[in-house]
Amino acid sequence: MLLEVKDLNVSFGGVKALDLSEFKVADKELRVIIGPNGAGKSTFMDILCGKTMANGGAVSFNQQHILGKREVEIANLGIGRKFQKPSVFSRLTVFDNMLLATKMPKGVFKSMFFRLSGEMTDKIHEVAAKVGLSEHLNKLAGNLSHGQKQWLEIAIVILQEPKLMLIDEPAAGMSDEETYKTGELLLELAQTKSVIVIEHDMNFVKQIAQGMVSVLVRGKLLMEGAFDEVRNDQRVIDSYLGRSNAMLEV
Ligand SMILES: Nc1ncnc2c1ncn2[C@@H]1O[C@H](COP(=O)(O)OP(=O)(O)O)[C@@H](O)[C@H]1O
Ligand SMILES: [Mg+2]
Repeated sequence: MLLEVKDLNVSFGGVKALDLSEFKVADKELRVIIGPNGAGKSTFMDILCGKTMANGGAVSFNQQHILGKREVEIANLGIGRKFQKPSVFSRLTVFDNMLLATKMPKGVFKSMFFRLSGEMTDKIHEVAAKVGLSEHLNKLAGNLSHGQKQWLEIAIVILQEPKLMLIDEPAAGMSDEETYKTGELLLELAQTKSVIVIEHDMNFVKQIAQGMVSVLVRGKLLMEGAFDEVRNDQRVIDSYLGRSNAMLEV
């Protein structure tokens, strides 16, 4: 297993936000997490990338314990995160945003004679093509459409070359066509790395969920199963699909 979580506890001011007894993700698995607003989904990603401290439990990633490690250390171990809110530099071009994210050979910034290597430029072009931004590399990131900004954020995570990508609500605010393209992109990425996706749009979930879907409710794992199993589970319908923010068309 690439990721193994055991008895993970997180509280904010005495209120339990997360109480996960067990959660595992395999190498090259695409896992979808669904659940009502406030269920603790984003908090879980905050823990996995070191942004928030846990109160207890154990998280092992690639055979290493990561609870208590700083964000940079965890990023260097290979966990990359795309946040729910866009965070690109709007006054830089798409290319420069991507350049800033590119994994550099050690010490490259120490050199006074740093020059953009052909290898790095190639890599940026390759990733831009993958996320559909080839034609927009010289645009200011601030001038991209909402969907394109999301793709730039995904590109930035790809360029960090993580083993595990955490993607929080990528399709929020996207058109149906953009959503579909995002789904295809995530499926492609999952061929070479593990991906955890949080999402509310059940059409999108259906598109990308080839494996297990985990349902988080009030900080706890309600159930895990294949899409159809989860979709038809009475407990999931009662606590999430039938009542809340789930976008249900399937
Ligand atoms: N940094 C924080 N400080 C205090 N409370 C927080 C913080 N982050 C999240 N919470 C609370 O934890 C709960 C889970 O939130 P969140 O993980 O954002 O849910 P989700 O992503 O499933 O909608 C909510 O009640 C939220 O208000
Ligand atoms: Mg959230």
